[in-house]
Order: sequence, then structure tokens, then C-alpha cells
Amino acid sequence: LGSGSGASVPGPQSPAPTLLAIIRKALSEEKRVSTKTSAADLVTETDHLVEGLIISELQKRFPSHRFIAEEAAAAGAKCVLTPSPTWIVDPIDGTCNFVHRFPTVAVSIGFAVNQELEFGVIYHCTEERLYTGRRGRGAFCNGQRLRVSGETDISKALVLTEIGPKRDPATLKLFLSNMERLLHAKAHGVRVIGSSTLALCHLASGAADAYYQFGLHCWDLAAATVIIREAGGIVMDTSGGPLDLMSCRVVAAGTREMATLIAQALQTINYGRDDEK
Ligand code: IPD
Repeated sequence: LGSGSGASVPGPQSPAPTLLAIIRKALSEEKRVSTKTSAADLVTETDHLVEGLIISELQKRFPSHRFIAEEAAAAGAKCVLTPSPTWIVDPIDGTCNFVHRFPTVAVSIGFAVNQELEFGVIYHCTEERLYTGRRGRGAFCNGQRLRVSGETDISKALVLTEIGPKRDPATLKLFLSNMERLLHAKAHGVRVIGSSTLALCHLASGAADAYYQFGLHCWDLAAATVIIREAGGIVMDTSGGPLDLMSCRVVAAGTREMATLIAQALQTINYGRDDEK
């Protein structure tokens, strides 16, 4: 960790049972669902409850630290990453899955100091898989070391993406056209699982060769970025330049060659920036 942050990466044990119990119980129940930026951008009372619990628990231990969190941002809090130790929290990633009881749902917590991502923790709530990554110390799933795939050829690749929240005709056209371009390049498949953080964990595990998305947020990316990098992978901007956590777009892959090929194939979908909302 950066000097004086006072925080340490959690071990391979599961997160607090109360948090998990809340998510698992709510997964099987009827939920009160609201929408945010679009009819496909969902939130439930459990997202709010879990975010509040995570932040209050962390605040007790690290009172001087800052937070960027999905539901606070939706309520108008500014997403600015300063040099201060900052926790970047997605209380339930895969909220649409959660609403439909589709069991691909995660909690994601990243931590940055001096604007550098230091560690990330992602918990797959139904499969009890804890993914962790700490800068310079490797990436693990339930204690087993993670390693990305070494594939460099799109025609041998399994590619993951997510649709993102915008559903206007122009955005959908670009989204489908990007998928079509990768299929024309003969990718073995393009998958959408409904949780960007868990898709990125599959990439870190070597179960897929690349990931790209327009319209994801810093809380979808922060923890996963450390995990992928520590598993030997590349996380970069869709322009081919360095990752910008606030830019709402990403390409990630097991190899730089693959990431570059995917980036070159994509047309940009503009979602603005997290730090300008
Ligand atoms: C969303 C999911 C979804 C992706 C969106 C994310 P949320 O996160 O990961 O798969 O398409 O871009 O924002 O809202 O479920 O936390």
C-alpha cells in the first residue's frame, strides 16, 4: 500500500456473513426496483443498504479515507479521484441479474492511493468465489493464483463485453456493430453475462481472452483492473492509450497484442466521464 494509508488487502476468507446473508436472502425475494440513467439501469433497496454497510464499516476503521461509490454517485456525489486513500465501491454489480434472480452478482471494492490502484476485492455472491489482487503481490481466487490467457489471435479468442445502460437506437447500433466486427474477425464467441466485474474476473482467470465495454464506471473497473494486471493482463483505453478510470470505456486482454487488435476493431460509444457528471 501507499505510505500511511493504513489499509491492508483482505485475506482469502469470505466477507462479513451479514453482508452476504443480506444479498443472498434478497436475491430470492421480490424487490423494489427503481431506474437511474435509463430503463435498463436498475437499483434496489439492497444496493443502497449494502453500500451503506460497506462504507460505514470502512469509515469506522479508516476515518480519514475517501469514498467513491455507485449509489452515492447516482444520488449526486462527485466522483473525483484525489491522491487521498480512496475506496471505490460497487455494492452489487450485476443489479439487473440480481433483480431477475440470475445468479451472477458480485460486490466489488477497489482501493487507490495517490491515484494509483493498490488492491481490489471482488466477491461472486452465489458461487462463493473471492477474487483479490494487490499491486506487486499477485491475483488470486479463493487463494489460487490467477493467470490470464496468452492468446494473441482474435480468430481463436473468446471475447466478453457488456451492453451498458444506454438503449437509444444510435447506441444500440454501435454496440451491435462492434460485436459484429469481432464476429467478422472470427472470434470464437462474444459473451454478455450481466456483470462487468465478474466478466473481468473471468478474463483474469484465463477463461476468456479479452473484454471491452463502453458505459462502465470506475466502480466496475477499479478492483478488476488490479486483479487483471496482477494476473499478467493488460487493461487500457479503447483508443489504445493508457487506462483512464473515469472515461467509462475499457479494453482488457491477456496480451497487449490482443488488446490492441480489439481496440482497433471498435467504434467509440460516447458515455462521457464519471468525473464530469
Ligand atoms: C453494471 C453491470 C452491467 C454493465 C454496466 C454496469 P451495476 O453495473 O456491470 O453488466 O453493462 O455498465 O454499470 O449497475 O449492475 O452495478
